[in-house]
Amino acid sequence: MRLAINGGPPVRTDPLAPDYPGASVYGDEEKAAVLEVLERRSPFRFYGPDPCHAVAAFEAAFAERMRVRHALALSSGTAALVVGLQSLGVSPGDEVLVPANTFLASPAAVLLCGATPVYVDIDDSFNLDPADLERKRSDRTVALMPVHIEGSPCDMDAIMRFAERHGLRVIEDVAQSCGASFRGRPLGSFGDIGVFSFQINKMITAGEGGMITTNATDLHERVARLHDQGNLRGAGGAMGFDTTGGAILGQNYRMNELSGAVLGAQLRKLDPLIAAMRRVASAIRSRVADVPGVRLRRQLDPDGEAGRRVFILLPSTSLALEVERAVQAEGVPVVRLYEGKPVFEHPQLRAGDVGSTCPQAVDLLARTVTLSVSPVWDDRDVDDIGQAISKVVTYYWKGVAT
Ligand SMILES: Cc1ncc(COP(=O)(O)O)c(C=O)c1O
Repeated sequence: MRLAINGGPPVRTDPLAPDYPGASVYGDEEKAAVLEVLERRSPFRFYGPDPCHAVAAFEAAFAERMRVRHALALSSGTAALVVGLQSLGVSPGDEVLVPANTFLASPAAVLLCGATPVYVDIDDSFNLDPADLERKRSDRTVALMPVHIEGSPCDMDAIMRFAERHGLRVIEDVAQSCGASFRGRPLGSFGDIGVFSFQINKMITAGEGGMITTNATDLHERVARLHDQGNLRGAGGAMGFDTTGGAILGQNYRMNELSGAVLGAQLRKLDPLIAAMRRVASAIRSRVADVPGVRLRRQLDPDGEAGRRVFILLPSTSLALEVERAVQAEGVPVVRLYEGKPVFEHPQLRAGDVGSTCPQAVDLLARTVTLSVSPVWDDRDVDDIGQAISKVVTYYWKGVAT
């Protein structure tokens, strides 16, 4: 059949529902929770006319779900990364191992602490390649930041073994994979610190928001101070002069009660959301898996992944570019993740020419098209997506193969 990009009829004419996971299941629960905060006129977490303590309740429920001792809510995932790194003592002169495939915020947070991100290559799981860790370690390395990309866990067994062998701290960036697990254990419960984001593209959302998880009580106290002017609150939530001897310089990265209320309701929907997204993602994968020329992302733990995005590896960058444009013309919004580039290409990171140190990231990202998954897509949506991808890849693959 003629491709839409060549003037043929597109597979899909009406738009697919947008792919924002948590926001697409907003309902009466979120409305009621927010309304209560408004009616009680108490949007600040620590005090007000009639506080709901929505943020505190969300933290407690989140800690329980992620099977950690402590959870601290913040204003964003970026704030959580910066505060998490600071709590581990990361400072100028230090190096932190960061994967070449991640969002800008992961290495930026390292730089904002005055330290240097050192980029670790990825493998066909699209997460960091544990085999590259040793090559990138130096005597200045103090920590590593595994990033669980788009719902799929890193190999936390290999990563924790490496960290323990060299006495390194581990800060897990779980921003894109809230609720996913590795070998039955929730992500964000392996390292010293886990970091989550509740920005609108994430599994659950209040538009913005972040969380730090930890099992270490001293780290929990430190991140609580760092996110709230360096003090710990006294009775009644007032911020007085902290004379405990523990006061440090901090900032304000607190979460407000409106966000906490929405997120408390969203957290109760997390597991059904993951189940729905896993169903949709695996149905799409099974429709395209056998198309000649297509390879799928390697899943390190298929039972633990959250179905956030489908990755289609193609044999070359030129084919990926053609497939990306042609599938879009069929009405299915595939993209190359981060425009097909490793994170160190962002100019503000001033990473210099490090592409040759991460050849797999350069190669894999350029020739992979991806589709962000919505939990509300139905069988017709999945059929259209599968048909659009297989129609386009088959067309170009024949051209390549003949
Ligand atoms: C891997 C990763 N880390 C950190 C962040 C930062 O989170 P936020 O946008 O909440 O600041 C994001 C957000 O997109 C992310 O994808």
